[in-house]
Amino acid sequence: MHALFRSPSRLPLVAPSILAADFMRMGDEAASVLDAGGDLLHVDVMDGHFVPNLTMGPDMVRCLRRRFPDVLLDVHLMIEKPGEFVRPFVDAGASHLTFHAEVVTPDAGRRLVDQIHAAGATAGLAMNPPTQVEPWLDLFPDLDLVLVMSIFPGFAGQRFMPEVLPKVRRIREALRADQRLEMDGGIGPDNAAACREAGCDVLAAASSIFCRPAEQRAGMIRTLRGEPERETKG
Ligand code: DX5
Ligand code: ZN
Repeated sequence: MHALFRSPSRLPLVAPSILAADFMRMGDEAASVLDAGGDLLHVDVMDGHFVPNLTMGPDMVRCLRRRFPDVLLDVHLMIEKPGEFVRPFVDAGASHLTFHAEVVTPDAGRRLVDQIHAAGATAGLAMNPPTQVEPWLDLFPDLDLVLVMSIFPGFAGQRFMPEVLPKVRRIREALRADQRLEMDGGIGPDNAAACREAGCDVLAAASSIFCRPAEQRAGMIRTLRGEPERETKG
């Protein structure tokens, strides 16, 4: 099991989402954001049912794993039937699987977490902006990570929804120090500090990292993580 999401360290992690990468050059795009300081790769899986878009599946994870043997591959399942894809994604090399609260009951969610752990990955629960925290609190002790959507899932490049920040604070209070809280959607230099201050310690970002030249990506990742500005040569 990959140790990064199980570490009690609360240093903010930046998770470049490859959804906004140039798919024709995926290997080099992923290498570029890891070289630029990205802590892991966020892989957005969509099925055309839970969200109105189609993206990538286990074969993408398999190719990423072959090229990056040690990187945490954070697979965000925006799909109606996550249970059917635990094995295919973990066998392909996924380190972590996050499924959505909107597609399961809390009891089914608990079984899914057990299934993910038994397969050898860490497990996360994602919540869309309107989804309430309370029905899920009993499941929290079993999770490695909670992901709060700050957009409606489906597409990169949408506007950040600050109205989810109170929910983030509420969730942080309910989590242990060794559990991660990830924010996903519309994250950029204007709102990363607010996300971190609310208690997020994993920031997933697609457009703000990939939609800029490779030489600017390291600076953006440092900004998202909250590192002090640094002069860059050349
Ligand atoms: C959206 C995905 C996000 C997306 C974020 O459904 O889950 O991870 O890639 O894209 P940006 O950072 O552009 O909002
Ligand atoms: Zn995502």
